[in-house]
Amino acid sequence: MELRSIGAGSLTVGAVGLGCMPMSWAYAPSRRRGQESLAAVHAALDLGSNLLDTADVYGPFTNELLLGRVLRERRPDAFVSAKVGLRAGDQHVVADGRPGYVRRACDASLRRLRTDVIDLYQLHRVDPDVPVEETWGAMAELVGAGKVRALGFCALGAGAGPGAGRGGDRAYGTTLRHLERAQQVFPVSAVQAELSVWSPQAAWQLLPWCADRGVGFLAAMPLGSGFLTGTLTPGEGFESQDVRARHPRFTADAMASNQVLVAALRRVARRHGPGVTAAQVALAWVLAQGPQVVPVPGADRAPWAAENARAAEVLLSAADLAEMAALPAAVGAWD
Ligand SMILES: NC(=O)c1ccc[n+]([C@@H]2O[C@H](COP(=O)([O-])OP(=O)(O)OC[C@H]3O[C@@H](n4cnc5c(N)ncnc54)[C@H](OP(=O)(O)O)[C@@H]3O)[C@@H](O)[C@H]2O)c1
Repeated sequence: MELRSIGAGSLTVGAVGLGCMPMSWAYAPSRRRGQESLAAVHAALDLGSNLLDTADVYGPFTNELLLGRVLRERRPDAFVSAKVGLRAGDQHVVADGRPGYVRRACDASLRRLRTDVIDLYQLHRVDPDVPVEETWGAMAELVGAGKVRALGFCALGAGAGPGAGRGGDRAYGTTLRHLERAQQVFPVSAVQAELSVWSPQAAWQLLPWCADRGVGFLAAMPLGSGFLTGTLTPGEGFESQDVRARHPRFTADAMASNQVLVAALRRVARRHGPGVTAAQVALAWVLAQGPQVVPVPGADRAPWAAENARAAEVLLSAADLAEMAALPAAVGAWD
């Protein structure tokens, strides 16, 4: 697989990573697979899709435990991308950026992941009660202690609803100010934020900041939480604990309106050959946004992890990209 550099060239990973969140968190609990999830991680690693994106809050904790079962055998094959700063409460998550908590959380993640170093340790959310310099400083000390190799920063969504608009956003202004402050303390190696065909805002505001500084970019939710794969049926509904059950983009009406995006992905896919899928074109579009962009599609079954890894072989033409740029904005506010 093509390799991409993040963190001003100091870290090298496969161009397509693996998002491990759906194995333990956020989506349909009845469809989480255990053994099949392990097979998905192995399939990704076998194809060079080595960046495994996880977080202590996924589960909570069970996602790291699951990855630990793979890492104890295949640590050299993997690039561990973990997160700190969100704690799972009862039915909700809260930010915790206190330095003492960060130190304890890192030690606990290392134990669960069965490794002695995390390749990329990301601040999942900024704690509004703790100056970002304090949290980031505690994370930087972990690099000094050899527990972590590099630091990353997760951004909240830009908001795709009315007012977000092309070329501008609301939430990323706050993120950029936090990033500037963090940079004064210790280098940011990667930024992680939602980026996909139906949520392109990060490409206009966050990506230029990363490109100017040699900072990598991990594209979260690159498949639009599954929608852009064309495998979800409008009106079919979601389990009550699935975040999409309460999401305005996943109402039957919004999903029906947004089929125009899936149709375009399928159209482009057909031009690239019989085996190419809408999911792969959605990932190829993310890859085309910049050489430092690494999509981390979530998948908890091996065939999909393999299909996604092979998206790195799909090279979109200028005509493909122009066709996709002309698509209407997605219907339904995202956050
Ligand atoms: N930093 C943050 O705050 C943040 C927030 C959200 C996500 N993330 C990261 O981003 C990663 C990706 O986001 P995501 O998992 O929410 O959304 P996503 O990658 O846009 O979509 C994942 C969904 O697509 C389905 N899928 C994957 N490959 C497929 C294929 N080839 N064909 C058909 N369906 C396919 C998966 O189904 P199955 O589950 O059934 O395999 C899963 O439900 C997460 O795993 C996490 O690591 C980070």
